[in-house]
Amino acid sequence: MPARLVTARSAMEQPRPASQSPSPWWRSAVVYQVYLRSFADGNGDGIGDLTGLRARLPYLTWLGVDALWINPHYPSGGADGGYDVIDYRAVDPDYGDVADLEALVADARRLGLRVLLDVVPNHTSDQHPWFRAALADPDSPEAMRYHFAPPSEEPPNNWQSLFGGPAWSRTPDGRWYLHLFAPEQPDLNWRDPAVAADFEKTLRFWLDRGVSGFRVDVAYGLFKDAGLRDNPGAYSPTLFGHGPEQAMTWNQPEVHDVWRRWRSICDEYPDTMLVGEVCLADLEQVALYSRPDEMHQSFSFRLLKSPWSAEAFADGVRTALDAFGRVQAPVSWVLGNHDKDRLVTRFGGGAVGAARARAAALLLLALPGSAYVYAGDELGLPQAEVPDEAKRDPIFFRSAGARAGRDGCRVPMPWNASAGVGFSPRGAAEPWLPIPAGWPRSAVSRQTRDGGSMLHLYRRALALRAEHPALGSGAATVSRRGDVLTVRCTGEGRTVRCVVNMGSGTVLVRSRGTVLLASAEHVPSSGGSVALPPDSAVWLAED
Ligand code: NOJ
Ligand code: CA
Repeated sequence: MPARLVTARSAMEQPRPASQSPSPWWRSAVVYQVYLRSFADGNGDGIGDLTGLRARLPYLTWLGVDALWINPHYPSGGADGGYDVIDYRAVDPDYGDVADLEALVADARRLGLRVLLDVVPNHTSDQHPWFRAALADPDSPEAMRYHFAPPSEEPPNNWQSLFGGPAWSRTPDGRWYLHLFAPEQPDLNWRDPAVAADFEKTLRFWLDRGVSGFRVDVAYGLFKDAGLRDNPGAYSPTLFGHGPEQAMTWNQPEVHDVWRRWRSICDEYPDTMLVGEVCLADLEQVALYSRPDEMHQSFSFRLLKSPWSAEAFADGVRTALDAFGRVQAPVSWVLGNHDKDRLVTRFGGGAVGAARARAAALLLLALPGSAYVYAGDELGLPQAEVPDEAKRDPIFFRSAGARAGRDGCRVPMPWNASAGVGFSPRGAAEPWLPIPAGWPRSAVSRQTRDGGSMLHLYRRALALRAEHPALGSGAATVSRRGDVLTVRCTGEGRTVRCVVNMGSGTVLVRSRGTVLLASAEHVPSSGGSVALPPDSAVWLAED
């Protein structure tokens, strides 16, 4: 395929406003997402824990991230990977105790890392003391904190659980209760003031222990249509997010007052932040959750859900920059998390998937705003095949196996090339999810010794991002010519272009400066141009 010449100029280029300075840390932070159960097992029971994570903090400083977000660490019924919380102001004994969490926060602070926790306000566990009291007595104050409906033949409305099946289940005495996720996750009734008061207590409990903020689960939920009316349409897991078809369950206007209140609490604690999980199809709506008096950030999942296509990526980047720019919030870019197939696999798997994941990493870390890196993506881990009998995810069970579920992106981290990949100490119990056969090949120990590894690419990119104000902060213009996407990033008068070749042939990219970093091994440059292979990206600093 002949090489084509690509220039930075394009009719699609749009200027972006520069961000304000001095900037708070979170506007351009790189946040590393730790799936606690699978990160590092300190005590040998086969389950990742706080002690294991603490011991691995130096790895995160070596890598060069700014903060970590820990998936739920609370005592949990275990029905949904910790997102069914029994006690919001405690630590699950599987992970340690509150003193361990305090020690983690202190160690992290010494190393220059901030710690964000996950908070789950839309629902509790069915084992939470409130729900138990509500089951025991329909007239109890606790019963008012959930959504119950009197016994009847049919559920109160047509709402569906995101994990499959109806969103209503019966209590032993025949009442209905609402759960937009698993039946073990009853939805809270945020119209009861006791609910809001208790969560404020929870926020302060952890902020007083030095955490730097929270990732807020299902932040577009909490309130439901007051009349519990039928939804106009069905939920589809293939959409970018929820839209008008699910208007009665999500995105009720009252929820924004909760975020205003939570913001005001965070404002009492310097340098803390909230990032919301807002799975709405319309990014304009998502951005409203991070207006100046609400959460600091709300995730932009557009790239996480985009196929490997320059058109889709250009649209995703542009839409996010526009939507969040309008509310003066940074975009929080996400390419992977514990709910989606690993990006190497999403982008085609094997060598092609890995090459694309490397290129995507350069794009992620160039874009202005905050970047979220899911543990293991820096190793290029593929989606693991988890045998059905080992699966834990309720999505697999509630869809009767029709949906594979999320276990394949949640298997333990490979630290070394031994059979147990160094996840647990020697002689430990079996890991909670089986270690895939190919895992030792991707181990941290191997990749640290290989200068061309995915891990070194991330590390180099993070170091350059810290050095160059054009990367991660500042302003960006997006352009696309055919299969080539260019993001031109400018900060403090310097410009770096991130050019991504998403097509199938090598392209020539005109370069008036230095190649800072390339995702492919060979990116020859001569006569003012670089030859960019397919499925690769380059950072070009302009002189
Ligand atoms: C979003 C979380 O990321 C996911 O893992 C969880 O299953 C649901 N919220 C329900 O809490
Ligand atoms: Ca353990």
